[in-house]
Amino acid sequence: MNILVTGGAGYVGSVCAEILITHGHAVFVFDNLSVGYRRAVPQSAVFFEGDLADRQALDRLFAAHQIEAVMHFAAFALVEESVRKPSAYYVNNVANSIQLLDAMVRHRVKKLIFSSSAAIYGEPKIAPIPEEHQAAPINPYGHTKLTFERILEDCGAATGLQYACLRYFNAAGATRERGEDHRPETHLIPILLQVALGQRPNFPINGTDYPTHDGTCIRDFVHVFDIAEAHVLALDQLERISGHVFNIGSNRGHSVREALETARRVTGHPIPVVEASRRPGDPAILVASSQKTERVLGWRPQFSSLSTIVESAWAWKQKFPFGYGEDRQAAP
Ligand SMILES: NC(=O)c1ccc[n+]([C@@H]2O[C@H](COP(=O)([O-])OP(=O)(O)OC[C@H]3O[C@@H](n4cnc5c(N)ncnc54)[C@H](O)[C@@H]3O)[C@@H](O)[C@H]2O)c1
Repeated sequence: MNILVTGGAGYVGSVCAEILITHGHAVFVFDNLSVGYRRAVPQSAVFFEGDLADRQALDRLFAAHQIEAVMHFAAFALVEESVRKPSAYYVNNVANSIQLLDAMVRHRVKKLIFSSSAAIYGEPKIAPIPEEHQAAPINPYGHTKLTFERILEDCGAATGLQYACLRYFNAAGATRERGEDHRPETHLIPILLQVALGQRPNFPINGTDYPTHDGTCIRDFVHVFDIAEAHVLALDQLERISGHVFNIGSNRGHSVREALETARRVTGHPIPVVEASRRPGDPAILVASSQKTERVLGWRPQFSSLSTIVESAWAWKQKFPFGYGEDRQAAP
């Protein structure tokens, strides 16, 4: 199938592009490189540098290639930044996503998989969280994701679009060639590994007084390869599952201290910590129930144990200590 991957120069999108290619699909990546990297895009994908806000660029792409499905990863995805710049988040994650939808309608492309987020649950009342849990985001980023889920509901009904929303929990891990390189990096595992490589002096634990077994937050880490496989499964079965939302998590929670201990064991580095106060808006426990995803999609996460995730991220980080940085040499 000819698949358009928006945001395919970013972390999850580039890995999905890689996995789609291994499944025999032809991949077209559309990315404005605002935070992604040209080098992250697989060589056999066709790359278009462009912004979702640019209607003509989208029209050119759809007119030139018989795109049959879209996987929509492009977005701004930093919670803290979304609190400071909400309108930029609504413009990019909602208005620009509508541009994409409208272009799909103009060019009669009927299949879409959307990257949603656990952020739509806000402060969940239970763990693990099933999809029918109340959606109550507590930051603009979560609001933008939920808003677009609702827009898809309406547009699906009006246009016959087949779509699925995949709500990822904490994406983590790497393939051999692709890993996580966000700037600024706000995600826990890459920060731990930056300390192990001597790129940061210590690891801040934000909050040690949560009502959890060791006082630190509990999160559900899911390997980016398993996320990519969920996309492949969702696309294969889209006609049957259209309109559904799916949690993409491992069904298991790990505390920040457990992630720290795993990183210490995998890297052999002591990884010094500083204990800091809680960050506003960090729920104590965020763990997915992935029962529906397993039952309905037949998804079986293979690489989402914490050890496998950290080992794969560490292997990538050692191979590319400066990530995709153009300015610095990657290690041989
Ligand atoms: N990483 C996670 O843990 C996580 C968790 C839940 C949901 N998500 C969602 O998954 C998606 C991918 O996340 P990620 O971590 O890979 O993000 P990322 O920032 O690494 O990638 C996003 C990509 O989109 C591109 N982009 C942004 N706005 C664009 C625009 N207007 N036009 C064209 N390209 C644009 C960026 O240049 C970047 O390459 C996002 O939608 C995010 O909200 C991620």
